Amino acid sequence: MPPPPGRGLLWLGLVLGSVCAALQSAAQASSATDALNVLLIVVDDLRPSLGCYGDKLVRSPNIDQLASHSLVFQNAFAQQAVCAPSRVSFLTGRRPDTTRLYDFNSYWRVHAGNFSTIPQYFKENGYVTMSVGKVFHPGISSNHSDDSPYSWSFPPYHPSSEKYENTKTCRGEDGELHANLLCPVDVADVPEGTLPDKQSTEQAIRLLEKMKMSASPFFLAVGYHKPHIPFRYPKEFQKLYPLENITLAPDPQVPDGLPPVAYNPWMDIRQREDIQALNISVPYGPVPVDFQRKIRQSYFASVSYLDTQVGRLLSALDDLQLASSTITVLTSDHGRQAMDLVELVSLFPTLAGLAGLRVPPRCPRPSFHVELCREGRNLLKYFRFYDLEEDPYFHSNPRELIAYSQYPRPADSPQWNSDKPTLKDIKVMGYSIRTIDYRYTVWVGFNPDEFLANFSDIHAGELYFVGSDPLQDHNMYNDSQGGELPRSLMP
Ligand SMILES: *[C@@H]1O[C@H](CO)[C@@H](O)[C@H](O)[C@H]1NC(C)=O
Ligand SMILES: *[C@@H]1O[C@H](CO)[C@@H](O)[C@H](O)[C@H]1NC(C)=O
Ligand SMILES: *[C@@H]1O[C@H](CO)[C@@H](O)[C@H](O)[C@H]1NC(C)=O
Ligand SMILES: *[C@@H]1O[C@H](CO)[C@@H](O)[C@H](O)[C@H]1NC(C)=O
Repeated sequence: MPPPPGRGLLWLGLVLGSVCAALQSAAQASSATDALNVLLIVVDDLRPSLGCYGDKLVRSPNIDQLASHSLVFQNAFAQQAVCAPSRVSFLTGRRPDTTRLYDFNSYWRVHAGNFSTIPQYFKENGYVTMSVGKVFHPGISSNHSDDSPYSWSFPPYHPSSEKYENTKTCRGEDGELHANLLCPVDVADVPEGTLPDKQSTEQAIRLLEKMKMSASPFFLAVGYHKPHIPFRYPKEFQKLYPLENITLAPDPQVPDGLPPVAYNPWMDIRQREDIQALNISVPYGPVPVDFQRKIRQSYFASVSYLDTQVGRLLSALDDLQLASSTITVLTSDHGRQAMDLVELVSLFPTLAGLAGLRVPPRCPRPSFHVELCREGRNLLKYFRFYDLEEDPYFHSNPRELIAYSQYPRPADSPQWNSDKPTLKDIKVMGYSIRTIDYRYTVWVGFNPDEFLANFSDIHAGELYFVGSDPLQDHNMYNDSQGGELPRSLMP
């Protein structure tokens, strides 16, 4: 498949990640005389295992309640299913090929371009902007400062108990403390007697109380750690999910026809002590069935714990009578594929539009020299008075909608750094397009020095028709001779 000259680099993407996003617009959004506040809740690794996405097992009453009066996107896709690249992408409104961040190790302002962020844009428009918990990924990818001072009016808040997340605080069956994947805890027993997400909720509520008195509108971003691994959560949430009620994944096997480059050997999970003790062969060895159930139980329990934190935060917003003047957005950085095709990179223009700020113009290509522009779409029209039927855009052909994403690999077969290669080790880039009908991926050669993908150097391909194969278990790429369909799809 020859790439169209001069593009093809930015405009394909791998649908490994997808996200659930619920947006609540204040009723008077379109006629606001006073600026609306923004509450942006970013959840780490949340897939659509929520009641509002039809999950029958998971208890998520607070997020479901938010969803009941929100616009809920059923098919929202992250541009790269890794924390730092995904967050930098949606917070700047630029794709990973523009931020040039595929790992954790560079700061876009010096490495790619001096791109404005969503909070920075609100700050420059008179908002007080505040960050609590994990919003930007910590470390060099946000200049060790969560992009302060550009993005935030005050230094960001990080919960003091964050530092224990990956330490030996999980009581094992031997009675000793371990650094485990499964980590239900007695909160009274853990260091500092609290957990990071609880602390973040408390801090966020303190900030809301302060902002109640403020003359300026606020933009408050709250980043929660759960349900990211390890599953460290108050043990009472485990009781919501008796093991005998936990079903296994509907398709636990490695799919036939999956090219080895596409397989994720989940190396970060293997490092946990409880997983190591299982002696699972690398890379394809299956997790014992009993343990699969325990992993799912703890993921669901972590989601319910997260849900109670969201509930406390939204109750505080209500109690302070801020709810009707605040746009609430809940999103995740990545999760697993769900099935309205939108991209997280569209959050920036959409949120600016909802708040009544000027929507940044479309980016030229390339746009490394342009500080403020958008690569995603303005989804504002989805919101107008919630009357989708009246909206001409809503009736546009869903087959024209495409979500792009991408994922890097160091090699054609799974190896120790396949999940998270550093930039210099990237040899292959998977670019995917997801339409309402199918997911199509090409894994192509990539030169990390030049940031160039070579679309004549195809290493492997995937094609799944999601109507007949919703779990994407039957790769049809070879049957389609790999070429004909894709050519007709190129933007
Ligand atoms: C980057 O943008 C910020 C905010 O607009 C500005 O203060 C800074 O001077 C810019 N830096 C460069 C190197 O252009
Ligand atoms: C990154 O942080 C360092 C140390 O605080 C600071 O000197 C530098 O100017 C920051 N980089 C940018 C691009 O603002
Ligand atoms: C577990 O499943 C049983 C049988 O379907 C059901 O009656 C019970 O309510 C379930 N328990 C929980 C906590 O969901
Ligand atoms: C782990 O598994 C390998 C084979 O997969 C076996 O040779 C080895 O003895 C096992 N180790 C333990 C501690 O069970």
